[in-house]
Amino acid sequence: MKLNTRINGKDYCLEINPNAMLVDVLRQAGLKSVKFGCGEGSCGCCAVMIDGKPRNSCITLAGLAEGAEILTVEGMGNPQEPHALQQAFVDSGSTQCGYCNPGSLIAAKALLDSNPNPSAEDVKDALDGNLCRCTGYVKRIDAVLSAAKAMKKSKKTSRGKK
Ligand code: FES
Ligand code: FES
Repeated sequence: MKLNTRINGKDYCLEINPNAMLVDVLRQAGLKSVKFGCGEGSCGCCAVMIDGKPRNSCITLAGLAEGAEILTVEGMGNPQEPHALQQAFVDSGSTQCGYCNPGSLIAAKALLDSNPNPSAEDVKDALDGNLCRCTGYVKRIDAVLSAAKAMKKSKKTSRGKK
């Protein structure tokens, strides 16, 4: 079957197996930030945003993304122009092997999109489904809080420039 979807602002028409899971389709389309871990919705490393909501792509049939807008970490930023969250993860040392980072970044972005001023508890709750086996959880909470601050500051600065 055909899957028409928009990924990171670009239109795709992909030939897929009706039983294919979104994680596999995205990786085959070259979006290698999307990781495969448990394959059963428990670790969060395959999380992507579908129409603004974080979803575990290992338990999402690719066909359900017909007509949807998908965001992966590739669409958040790049090494030259990282998203504030990506920069904060690097600065705080929240990256060791990095395998969990794409899913955590997507969950963190979903949080800040809906709540730009989260408490540490809010961050903890939002990242609850994203397991990390090497860095642990304190640094990434600090990273999300510091990205939220940086984003607020840059909004104020850009408003001041108008
Ligand atoms: S690989 Fe999808 S939740 Fe673990
Ligand atoms: S940095 Fe290795 S699993 Fe999180």
